[in-house]
Amino acid sequence: MALLIKNGETITADKRTKADVYIEDETITEIGENLTAPEGTEVIDASGKYVFPGFIDPHVHIHLPFMGAYAKDTHKTGSQAALIGGTTTFIEMCAPAGSEDALEGYKHWKALAEGNAACDYAFHMGVTKFDETTEAQLREIVADGTTSFKVFLAYKGAFGIDDEALFKTLTLARELGVITTAHTENAELVAQMQGKLLAEGKTGSEWHEPSRPEYVEADGVHHFATFLEATGARGYVVHLSSEPALDAALEARARGVDLYIESVIPHLMLDKSYAERPDFEGAKYVMSPPLRDKRNQAALWQALSRGDISTVGTDHAPFDTTQKAMGKADFTKIPNGIPAIEDRVNLLYTYGVSRGELDLHRFVDAASTQAAKLFGLYPRKGTLEVGSDADLVIYDPEYRGQLSAETQHMNVDYNGFEGMEIDGRPSVVTVRGVVQVKDGQFVGDASRGRLLRREVTGG
Ligand code: URP
Ligand code: ZN
Ligand code: ZN
Repeated sequence: MALLIKNGETITADKRTKADVYIEDETITEIGENLTAPEGTEVIDASGKYVFPGFIDPHVHIHLPFMGAYAKDTHKTGSQAALIGGTTTFIEMCAPAGSEDALEGYKHWKALAEGNAACDYAFHMGVTKFDETTEAQLREIVADGTTSFKVFLAYKGAFGIDDEALFKTLTLARELGVITTAHTENAELVAQMQGKLLAEGKTGSEWHEPSRPEYVEADGVHHFATFLEATGARGYVVHLSSEPALDAALEARARGVDLYIESVIPHLMLDKSYAERPDFEGAKYVMSPPLRDKRNQAALWQALSRGDISTVGTDHAPFDTTQKAMGKADFTKIPNGIPAIEDRVNLLYTYGVSRGELDLHRFVDAASTQAAKLFGLYPRKGTLEVGSDADLVIYDPEYRGQLSAETQHMNVDYNGFEGMEIDGRPSVVTVRGVVQVKDGQFVGDASRGRLLRREVTGG
């Protein structure tokens, strides 16, 4: 099986070239000018289009039992929506309930995904408890090629772990060379502040942000960084949302802590006024860390542009409006999360590159290459090189459209970015050489996706 992409402009994190790309089976085998191919080869004309490496979403929830609900996407719907938006690989948070062992949870998540994903995928292994059996189980999971951990410093009584478990996780991560990703909010402060607000009769979605203010996130980042310093482990703060948290992360890095930062598209595009919308409309915009005061966005975009923020993910967590209504009388019961897996790339391209906030190469770097490097997939993924997997996004920068729940493929009844304009979209998306998407429609093999074995990158 061969495929030739002709006349496009190939864009990676550091190169821009007019070049054709030749693919045999699953792999890029040639990149160059005026390539020809044997008769019978499928040829795609990419004139006027960019050819990007497939985009990687480093922070996705598909199977997510959380706050009394299950997120709405399946691996089938979530992966097809991802591909339509240009994401060819996602890394899902495997987050076992406290009652489930790590290995049991890992097998459960793997079984749900296997044969059901249209794009490639991997897992961050959630460490949601650390008892006498956990270490051996985590070693087995890392040996299986799942080479990153996830810890929650938030969500007291659910996924959250205490300092002893955090220390043990990071000590093991350091020994194994595994990078640890972390949701960094001080869980106790959040619990106390939620209780205080509810006692004052402040029950609406507009109180979600005040219950976990910026300094609570900054404290979480500082705490995580201190534990990284003590253990020598490599860390990655997920969904960093505020300037004080950014300052805390950069300050830690300046003193030598091995720490990377992710931001997610909702925090770059939306602010806390969305969660303050009347008639419970605000519930659609409840996520954690919360949408922030708008002034934080400039700091995030600038840090992204400089490369201080390495990656942009989604934190895709789709709960529908019926599920959100569980928190009608009490904002602490609104399932946290905003759907975004389909829209990340188009929003980042439009409000980053097209509107002048982000260099085209930094866009590719943040939406693909850095995730591949940090999570052990580079150069198989995250770039266009001879030998790389043939995951390509042929991107039409002339397309104009608007995001809407009416036209989306995510399995949820609203779109948090409803009505926002986009200045481009993928016109063809391939996964290891197979065309999976054409002009906004899934046209491919619904079970093409594979679990990726990854290298260790934290040592
Ligand atoms: O609100 C969010 N972010 N929901 C998903 C769980 C998490 O914290 O990532
Ligand atoms: Zn989180
Ligand atoms: Zn998340």
